[in-house]
Amino acid sequence: MSDTLAVLNCSQLVTLAGAKRPRTGGDLRQLAIVEDGALLIRGEAIEAAGRRREIESLIPNDAEVIDAGRRVVMPGFVDAHTHPVFAGIRANEFEQRVSGATYREIAARGGGIRSTVRATRNATEKDLVKAGKRYADWFLRTGTTTVEAKSGYGLTLEDELKILRAIRELNEQTPLRYVPTFLGAHDIPSEYKPRRETYINLVINEMLPRVVEEKLAEYCDVFCEEGVFTADETRMILEAARSHGLGLRVHADQLSLSGGAKLAAGLKCATADHLEHTDPAGIAALKVARVQPVLLPGSVYALGSQQYPAARQMIDADLGVVLATDFNPGSSPVPSMPMVLSIACTQMKMTPAEAITAATVNAAYSLGRGDDIGSLEKGKRADFVIHDCEDYRELAYFFGIEHPWRVYVGGKLVSQRPDR
Ligand code: NIG
Ligand code: FE
Repeated sequence: MSDTLAVLNCSQLVTLAGAKRPRTGGDLRQLAIVEDGALLIRGEAIEAAGRRREIESLIPNDAEVIDAGRRVVMPGFVDAHTHPVFAGIRANEFEQRVSGATYREIAARGGGIRSTVRATRNATEKDLVKAGKRYADWFLRTGTTTVEAKSGYGLTLEDELKILRAIRELNEQTPLRYVPTFLGAHDIPSEYKPRRETYINLVINEMLPRVVEEKLAEYCDVFCEEGVFTADETRMILEAARSHGLGLRVHADQLSLSGGAKLAAGLKCATADHLEHTDPAGIAALKVARVQPVLLPGSVYALGSQQYPAARQMIDADLGVVLATDFNPGSSPVPSMPMVLSIACTQMKMTPAEAITAATVNAAYSLGRGDDIGSLEKGKRADFVIHDCEDYRELAYFFGIEHPWRVYVGGKLVSQRPDR
């Protein structure tokens, strides 16, 4: 059996080929589309991407050939901010919010992150893997092939390790690719409320070294927010993480202007995420430090807020904007990148092309994987999706449906819709 696969008859092959760096400004609109394109894949990697006539001459006789049926073919989405390992759900809080309670009020009553922490502490690693597989299937079915995955619902050494080990298991047991992030500083657990420094010391002196020793994370993240971790505390934790060799991400300016964006710039973090309340000075600081903003409009939508991050100003400032779901059981119960594209276009006035660049190649660069995934170019991994539409703009235009017809990771078919 040949290890070569050819995909022919793509209405648009959306390659996103281009400069080997996060795309900024007008380049966000350049999708490098090949009309009537084709792909040639050998093993797990892309051998060639281009016009049908060029590719056809390269196809060996024993190759498997797929007729894309004049559909759009593009890279799998790279979701650069998710919290996909947790126990229980929070439909009760959702109901309270639509009835008038705010996210912060619910958190102040011991709900919110803390209610998921209680459930997750009571779950075994096996329980978490089982729940995680359900969500992995949702990601794949909606066309996501890589997710960044944060811990943060354990908040004890053993429970944080349990979540990160579950992420490692999910990476091995499902076709979805996971990039693990340690988020031990997601909240101060209730038992440490009166002595927050003790918890911060635990994160720095016990959790971080174990996480690194067991190679369970590539990045470290902190929830920098009024009432959670201050900018100074966030800096201490992230500096410790950097000294262990981890990359840095930060939940910044989500519910208030907490100084998170400026801090992320000062530390030259890989990303500053959320940024709903970031001011022009914060945007300017991110620009100087070349920090990539990760915008999460699904969480704004699900919280019933109107305060979307200033995507247009960030694009005008030449930032390498990224879009992600923030999938989690509280503020953002959405695994679907096409849904996020729709919200990004209608609410933040990004164009469909800008949104797709932000959700693929820019996201890949934000995870240090720009050479590997995020575009369809020779040598990259064959993570691609055949979407059931002819024009890429339909992904953001028709919303609330599952677009993918076939999803491939490393050249292997991992999700498919029955033919009509
Ligand atoms: O990104 N901001 C903090 N963390 C999550 C919320 C997690 C939760 O509500 O469980 C977020 O929105
Ligand atoms: Fe988050």
